[in-house]
Order: sequence, then structure tokens, then C-alpha cells
Amino acid sequence: MGKIERGSFGSRLGIVLATAGSAVGLGNVWRFPYMTGQNGGAAFLLLYVACIMVLGVPGMVSEFIVGRHAQANAAHAYDKLSGGRPWKLVGYLGILTSTIILGFYAVVAGWCLQYLWAAVAKPGMATKDYFADFSTDAVQPVLWAVAFILLTHVVIVRGVRRGIERASKWLMPILLVLLLVLVVASCTLPGAADGIRFLLWPDFSKLSSRVLLEALGQAFFSLSLGTACLCTYASYFTRTTNLLHAAGQIALLDALIAVCAGLMIFPAAAAVGISPDSGPSLIFITLPSVFQQAFAAVPIVGYVISVMFYALLVFAALTSTISMHEIGTAFFTEEFRLPRSRSAWVITCVAGVLSVFCAWSVGALPGLQVMGRSLMDFCDQLTANFMLPLGGMLVCLFVGWYIPKRVVYEEFTNDGALNRRYFRLFLFAVRFVCPICIALIFLHQLGVL
Ligand code: PFF
Repeated sequence: MGKIERGSFGSRLGIVLATAGSAVGLGNVWRFPYMTGQNGGAAFLLLYVACIMVLGVPGMVSEFIVGRHAQANAAHAYDKLSGGRPWKLVGYLGILTSTIILGFYAVVAGWCLQYLWAAVAKPGMATKDYFADFSTDAVQPVLWAVAFILLTHVVIVRGVRRGIERASKWLMPILLVLLLVLVVASCTLPGAADGIRFLLWPDFSKLSSRVLLEALGQAFFSLSLGTACLCTYASYFTRTTNLLHAAGQIALLDALIAVCAGLMIFPAAAAVGISPDSGPSLIFITLPSVFQQAFAAVPIVGYVISVMFYALLVFAALTSTISMHEIGTAFFTEEFRLPRSRSAWVITCVAGVLSVFCAWSVGALPGLQVMGRSLMDFCDQLTANFMLPLGGMLVCLFVGWYIPKRVVYEEFTNDGALNRRYFRLFLFAVRFVCPICIALIFLHQLGVL
């Protein structure tokens, strides 16, 4: 049987932008603000940043090491490095996790696409009631979610360099510019100061073990860590990519964008008197009325700003759904030797069906619940608070204890050329700090500690 041609990223910038494109998404612009709103503002922000820096960066480097060394899809990468031991299951766990995430994420991405369309075609329509009417409709949210997955599918079948890399190189810079414009617009509204204070002034009385677990889950979700996504992307890196730098840059960018998203939303919400803890619908209910009220005197500015905002959400979501989709597509292409387009259809169909049920569970079929939560909420909590930290912990254990130290050293230092003085610190982090911290947070949450 012939060897399957593997794609690779074409440039250093392409590598950073594509991986950052995976990390930066609705996790930053939708999930982070509403989690922060529900968990006490700045105190949550501090925990989230700490989790990113202390646990996230070593975890990311670990996934990079596995992916780049093995040059294979997630399941095969673990298999190859472990000589067929059950570690392969970590790869399967990643593929399963990313497909579940794609299922519910596409629902929110579909809302964004629908709002973008409404912002362009029917300005002034997207009010508070509009969200309730639209999201509870049996057909519309489903169509938009499936449309979003199909959009992702189109990019994926174009391949790694022509599809993923090119899309990220265009979308990421546009996203950054849009975000900065919106931060300035929001922070200069009258009454914005309360929102800024909420995001930046910590109230430590809000902290609890549940908030810590939520911050950990949010950090991992936001970095795309624990799904084998970073492992899959790293298999397209070049031998000269500096893994520690790439992880550090992406983590920093990811945290900065989350803070900017907070600075875009909370001041705007404060300016029009909307509570920051309105939950997952925060950006859909809050912002349309913010745009309308804030720019009532010059409606055209309100129009442009709202179109820009929903375009930003769609771009951010797309570079992330591409990465979730790629994990499973690479797996089916390489393990079952299917053509790339057929593998992509497998993931598109599975995630598409899940997204239909997730959309109904928060809309037309509220009875669609698992363990007392809507299916959508259940998938979100299950992946972010359980599957991702578990995946992250296992990859750290794998790199720290299982694969030969020589291999880890060669990958971490690019064969001894760089980062040598950080190697011991890295090894200490992945052997002890990350697994122990994650285990303690789990045990505490389960009430064992
Ligand atoms: N990191 C993405 C975000 O913040 O929106 C979400 C994500 C992408 C999670 C890819 C998992 C994944 F594999």
C-alpha cells in the first residue's frame, strides 16, 4: 500500500497563525466573558491566566513534542511513540473530545452566522426577543449550525497549506483589528468604567474549588489543549519550529485576546445596565442592544460596528472549528487510508448530527437533557471540565515519564540548538506540577479532598 502524502505548514508565520487560530475562538470571545461574568470577574481572570501559564504552556509543549516527533495523526502518534501500549487511547480520547466539541460549538457558531446575516440584512432586528425566538425555533438554529460545519468542511478538504494555513493568514489579522476597534468603541461609552472594574478588580470572596475547576477547564478549552488538536497541528510543523516559543506566543496571545474580549463586552454591558452574569447568551442578548443604544445618534456607526462584531465571531469560530475537524479528518485519512474528502465527510456527518440535537436541546426540545442539563450544556461541561483536563494530564504524564528523555530533549531543544536551560524546568513541570495540580483539582471537586 502506498504511503499517504502528509501536508505541512509552509512558513513560521503560518504555523503560529494557524495554531493561534485554533486557540483563539468562541472560547475567548463567547465562553470566557460569560464564565467570567458568572464566576466573579477579575478573580476568575487571575486563576485563568495562572492556569494558562503554569499548566497550559507545559501541556502545549508536550502535545507539540508528541505530534512533531511522530509526524502522524493523534492516535497513531501515541501508538508510534509507545510501541502499541494502551497510550493510543489518549489519541482516541482526543479525537472523541474534539468531535463532541465541534458538535456543540457549531451551534454557537451557527448563532453567530445567523446574527451576522441579521446584522447585514435586517439592521435593528436583533433584539433581546430575537434571540429567544430564533434559538427556540426548530429549524433555523439547526440549519445555521449545519451550514457552519459545511463551511468548515470546505476549508478542510482544501488541505493543510491551501486550506487551513491560508484561511488563518487572512482571518487572524482581520480578527485582531476588528477586536481592537470594538474594545475602543466599548470602553469609550458613558458608564463603561463599571464594566472595566468588574473585569480588572478581583473579589477573592468569589473563589471556590468549583471556580478553580471552571478556570482550569476554560484555560484548556481556550488553548485547544487536551484534544490532541495541538498534537495534530504539530505534526505539520517543521523541524526548525521552536516549540517553547510557539507555545508561549500562542498562550500569551490567547490570554490577551480573552482580556480584550472582556474589555469589549463588560464595559458595553455596564453602559446599558445589563448584568454580566446573564450566561451563554450574554453576547447575543447584550451586544445588539448595546450597539443600538450606544450609537442611537448615528445609526450607521451602530450598523457598521455590529456587522464587524459578528464577522469577528464568525472568523474566530471558523479557525477553531477547522482545527477540531482536522483532528478526526487526519485520523480517518491516515488510519483507514480514505481520501481526505471522504474522511472529512465522516467527521462532518457525526458532528452535524450531534449539533442538531445540541441545538434542539437549548431550543425546540428542552426535554433533551442529560444528568439534569441540556445536552448542549452537558457536552460543554463534560469536555471542558473533564475530558480536556484528563487529556492534558495524560499527555504530560506520557511525555514526562513514558517516552525516552532523549526524545523529549531532542524535540524540546531542536537537537540541542535552543532552550537547553529551560529543559529541566519543563521536565519538572510535566512530571510533577501539571499532573499533581490537575489531579488535586479533580479530587477536590469530587469531594475526595
Ligand atoms: N480553543 C478554541 C476556542 O477557544 O474557541 C476551542 C477549541 C478548538 C477547543 C479546538 C478544542 C479544540 F480541539
